[in-house]
Amino acid sequence: YYMFVFNYSQQFDKCFSDKSISIGIVPTMGALHDGHLSLIKKALSENDKVLVTIFVNPTQFDDNLDLKSYPNELEKDLDKISQFGENISVFTPDKSDVYGDEIHAKQYDLKELDNIMEGKIRKGHFQGVATVVEYFLKTFSPTKAYFGEKDYQQLLIIKHLSKSLNLPTKIVGCPIVRATDGLAMSSRNLLLSPEERKIAPEVYTGLKLAVKLAKKEKYKKIQTEVRAFFQNLSLIKLEYFIATDPFTLVEFKPNETIKSGRGFIAASLGEIRLIDNINMS
Ligand code: PAF
Repeated sequence: YYMFVFNYSQQFDKCFSDKSISIGIVPTMGALHDGHLSLIKKALSENDKVLVTIFVNPTQFDDNLDLKSYPNELEKDLDKISQFGENISVFTPDKSDVYGDEIHAKQYDLKELDNIMEGKIRKGHFQGVATVVEYFLKTFSPTKAYFGEKDYQQLLIIKHLSKSLNLPTKIVGCPIVRATDGLAMSSRNLLLSPEERKIAPEVYTGLKLAVKLAKKEKYKKIQTEVRAFFQNLSLIKLEYFIATDPFTLVEFKPNETIKSGRGFIAASLGEIRLIDNINMS
């Protein structure tokens, strides 16, 4: 590859010794799809250099099977990244470079942002995300860091983290990229069977239904209707549909109307969990 691929954070200084340049970081867990590539493009358009990290972070998995089955496609990933030219570098650290001898997450006060949805269901998940993101931001001091709105709760938590640690990096959220049938891009989509993949776009249909209902109905009715929509589908099991304030993630009350909100769905198809979200204003 023409680009610089490195495993030890110390090697970074060799490549980025010029402190006057702007650096955009795109942290990923690999198995790159068009969503990731859109983050890389945005980062390249706003910075002199871009650093993509590929690291399947063990501390953010609450389920060992999920960690073991997480797709690993490093060669393909490097091919995809190399098409972007020479201003891009890739950091593929080892667990020990990130964590030393003891692989565990730090504990942060995430201001209730981790008390619902993915934080409630995947215990410790966001503490693991925060730990590795703090590591990347402190190690490389990038000018900007890019995250997808697909993981909207994660994005808010990282914004909070960066602010509370007084880090200079600007956290940039980027819109969800969807397949032509509406399914939000996710590395986990690779794990769906053909039948599951076919029905998976219904997650987005459910979110669009919620947006439509919100024009007339209160939250309770929207929730009832969205749940009923999924009950009529085979292969997909709705885990939650929740609508919250878009900044605090405080859930609406049953009799509230949704003027400015964000709708979230988690659903499982066989062993695979998918999440998606939509602007409800
Ligand atoms: O969104 C992801 O891929 C991961 O949670 C992140 C931000 C790279 C941390 O491991």
